Amino acid sequence: MTGFSPDWLALREPFDRGARSARLAELFASRLPPTPRIVDLGGGTGANIRALAALMPAGTRWRMVDDDPEVIAVARASLAEYRVEFDRRDLAADLEGAIGDAQAITASALADLVSRTWIDRLFAAAAERAAPLLIVLTVDGWHEFSPAHPDDDLVLNAFAQDQRRDKGFGPALGGNAAEYLAAAARHVGFAVEGEASDWQIPSDATPMLHALIEGIAGASSSARPALARRIHAWRDARAASIAAKRLTFAVGHRDVCAYPERRA
Ligand SMILES: C[S@@+](CC[C@H](N)C(=O)[O-])C[C@H]1O[C@@H](n2cnc3c(N)ncnc32)[C@H](O)[C@@H]1O
Repeated sequence: MTGFSPDWLALREPFDRGARSARLAELFASRLPPTPRIVDLGGGTGANIRALAALMPAGTRWRMVDDDPEVIAVARASLAEYRVEFDRRDLAADLEGAIGDAQAITASALADLVSRTWIDRLFAAAAERAAPLLIVLTVDGWHEFSPAHPDDDLVLNAFAQDQRRDKGFGPALGGNAAEYLAAAARHVGFAVEGEASDWQIPSDATPMLHALIEGIAGASSSARPALARRIHAWRDARAASIAAKRLTFAVGHRDVCAYPERRA
């Protein structure tokens, strides 16, 4: 779990797919105009469009925005069957330009990376366009290892600190993002619904478990270098449990759909 490499995005995609709320995707679809223009912010290799396309109205036109040419190249090759434009752009610097003439906005696995100010800008732009939003797979800070290890909380507290580090958008919301999305939606007068979209990672998902443990150990020791030795010992113990197929891991996420209320 180092950055957002195509390999990492491919590894997480089936877990995302299994966790997403179908009900909220359908609610989002029900709020769209015919042949809508939908923008996918921070689209990566295109997983969000792949997951949503079949649920959206016929003739949907997509625009996928990301600032990483490597993931855009993978997305371009794998989304050929859909009507998708690709827009390489820095979402921190030019969110309003990225949304452009879109009539609806979606993003997956992005909202925990951004700041309160950025979310406020997102909802201001959505309100100006009366555009519904579907923001999915936002981490909510809940984790559950089975079996537990005495240093789980120590490591996860350091990891939460890393999740709040500035990722280019200002101080990141991390595990508070899903709650803030709902508050920001209400602030602009949108209705909002949320649903859990937790990852449930079984003991035989060895590559995913290893990637997560390595990613958590790396990020938490960067956040708390003084704890690095204990964190490395925790990582080694967790790696041994994975090898013995004894570890399962659940990671809390939330999907949110927000939309302007229809007038009576
Ligand atoms: C966790 S990945 C999620 C990718 C994809 N939505 C998915 O669900 O697989 C976050 C994505 O946001 C993009 N991103 C991060 N910061 C960005 C920025 N400032 N401007 C544009 N894209 C950005 C990354 O390149 C990456 O593709």
